[in-house]
Amino acid sequence: MTARRTLRRSAKLLKAFRLEQSDPDCFYDLIARDAAERVGERVRLSGALVLDVGGGAGYLAKAFRAAGSTCVVVEPDLTELSWRGARPDGAVIGDGYRLPFRSGRADLVLSSNVLEHVQRPYRMLDELARVTRPGGFVWVSFTNWYSPWGGHEISPWHYLGAERALARYRRRYGRSPKNLLGTNLFKVHVGETLRHVGSSPLFEVVDAGPRYHPAFARGVVRVPGLREVVTWNLELLLRRSRVPAEVRAVNP
Ligand SMILES: C[S@@+](CC[C@H](N)C(=O)[O-])C[C@H]1O[C@@H](n2cnc3c(N)ncnc32)[C@H](O)[C@@H]1O
Repeated sequence: MTARRTLRRSAKLLKAFRLEQSDPDCFYDLIARDAAERVGERVRLSGALVLDVGGGAGYLAKAFRAAGSTCVVVEPDLTELSWRGARPDGAVIGDGYRLPFRSGRADLVLSSNVLEHVQRPYRMLDELARVTRPGGFVWVSFTNWYSPWGGHEISPWHYLGAERALARYRRRYGRSPKNLLGTNLFKVHVGETLRHVGSSPLFEVVDAGPRYHPAFARGVVRVPGLREVVTWNLELLLRRSRVPAEVRAVNP
């Protein structure tokens, strides 16, 4: 996923990021279309059955449908599903740990900015693999904890410690942030996640890189330490293994 990852594209995404609060539709539509374009460079989207797990109000689904896929949003939270009056067509209420689909059903499973919101992200990844057909793809992206945006609303003060950052936020706004560490926000790291997917018999890593950065910065995910801060948001394209996991574990 390196083609068309220009500096100009990154600048446009960064500019849109500043609109997230004032014009969320513009921001979410833009990053969803960008994701569909980038994934579409590697995966055939036309005619594909796509599941968007933790799909919220359905921005990603809209972009993947526009690219010719049948895309089903799977979302556990009705409030997220109907955010800003959205009513995503054909959405399913479901949990990423126990997806209401039979094994091997999907050609492509997406999950954008969800892994950092679940307590057991690798367990969820295994479940995404279960519903993907052998040879199919899983595309995930998440904001890692040491990203400048890792603490979400308490960023960048989370670098001084989550407790302190939280106390500061509460003093300033008189309420708790929407994303609360240990409740619906968890520390997920770049290096640890790369090691996990790299050693998992369920996946082959097709691509891993910073989601929003230009092509020349892709390699940063290979630099321990630095990658935790500058990746910002890790994007992974994984191919579901064709060999059943148990067989491969016995015959590596
Ligand atoms: C930051 S939002 C991301 C929404 C959307 N994917 C996007 O990129 O705009 C995180 C989403 O993860 C969902 N989520 C939280 N726990 C989940 C779980 N166990 N299974 C599936 N989705 C979950 C939330 O309900 C919320 O919609």
